[in-house]
Amino acid sequence: MKLIVDPATKLLDGTIHIPGDKSIGHRALLFSLLSATPVRVLGLGDGADNGRSAKAITALGAKVTKDAPAIVIAGTGLDAMTAPASPIDCGNSGTTIRLLCGLLAGQRFPTTLIGDESLSKRPMRRVIAPLAAMGARIESEPGGLPPLRILGGARLHGVETSTPVASAQVKSALLLAGLYAEGETMVREPHPTRDYTERMLAAFGYPIEFAPGLARLRGGHRLTAIDVDVPADFSSAAFFIVAATLAPGSELRIEAVGMNPRRTGLLQALRAMGADIREENRNEQGGEPVADLVVRHAPLHGIDVPVEIVPDMIDEFPALFVAAACAKGRTIVRGAAELRVKESDRIATMAAGLRALGIDIEETPDGAVIEGGRLAGGVVESHGDHRIAMSFAVAAQLANGNVRINDVANVATSFPGFVELARDAGMNLGD
Ligand code: S3P
Repeated sequence: MKLIVDPATKLLDGTIHIPGDKSIGHRALLFSLLSATPVRVLGLGDGADNGRSAKAITALGAKVTKDAPAIVIAGTGLDAMTAPASPIDCGNSGTTIRLLCGLLAGQRFPTTLIGDESLSKRPMRRVIAPLAAMGARIESEPGGLPPLRILGGARLHGVETSTPVASAQVKSALLLAGLYAEGETMVREPHPTRDYTERMLAAFGYPIEFAPGLARLRGGHRLTAIDVDVPADFSSAAFFIVAATLAPGSELRIEAVGMNPRRTGLLQALRAMGADIREENRNEQGGEPVADLVVRHAPLHGIDVPVEIVPDMIDEFPALFVAAACAKGRTIVRGAAELRVKESDRIATMAAGLRALGIDIEETPDGAVIEGGRLAGGVVESHGDHRIAMSFAVAAQLANGNVRINDVANVATSFPGFVELARDAGMNLGD
């Protein structure tokens, strides 16, 4: 599947609403499975990745019904999960496979987890090794790659772990295994990462202590239901924030966007580059801060992206690279080697695509040096990576020739309505 975008810069205006946060959606689904009483979830995004988690919990014994606009999940509680009849297909979703590793490590039955071509190349040792230290038995393909076979029947014990990479998925897998472990599980991180697992466990009544960079819990307690109200996904909003910043004349309002500080590093980076982004109607939704973002066009200049905000914008680098390509001067990204093991190698994929559109960009092992310039038309490859495809759709708005973006079907993993919403906001997207 491809997207062809004509070279007519349009301004973005009006008010848009972005679908529910994918990270929170995964946790709402997985933790509802563990809840002893039914959970109502409002605002779950309709992306395929969340769909994978929904299918997984059904395979493990949950009943998911619609009560529009909410869904209601009757889980099994912690100890009554049923063995799935066949391998669980996690599709493109790293969060599904890694969180399930932790959750299934403490079950009596074995499970096999599989994924698509991209997921089958993503590193799983980062969860397998610390889970093994808790007593879990997980087999992988050579190199720690999926499919993963979780042997089940293991007696888990809590451990104190310092994760070598800042990863909310790894932290979450360990905490989920910790629910089934004897004693205390404590996770320290090199940089604080998103804390949705900790917040939602606490909201489900599970005793847990946490602070930025640290979380600890003991096994053996219960989860009980609450309603979950999923706020709009900041990472999906990011494409519109960058597009409205770059397209002259734009003024776009994005309503009630999730503003968890572990997710909004892009705002800091863009503001340092000269962006005009106001936050209005600050509120709370489902225990998370939200705000309307009012984004006005502003000329940008290059910056040295502060290394300490990298984990807070880890999913936003494809969009940031586009902003940097349109900024005056040089932008330097460092300390972002994790980008190489996302749905694609996002440093290499963005560098190749921006180069194809005439931008001077140099890859480094953990980042890039991007010289702002004028985007030309050309052909770019998404490598099946949703965020790369959407970032180039934004870049194409500013190009002075036709842009063809190949391999865009996976936009549906996080944001199936992206093209329609982008057109509504004023972006010029072809077929
Ligand atoms: C996620 C954590 C991050 C992020 C991913 C979603 C999560 O991955 O990139 O899109 O929901 O916990 P890592 O844990 O690999 O950093």
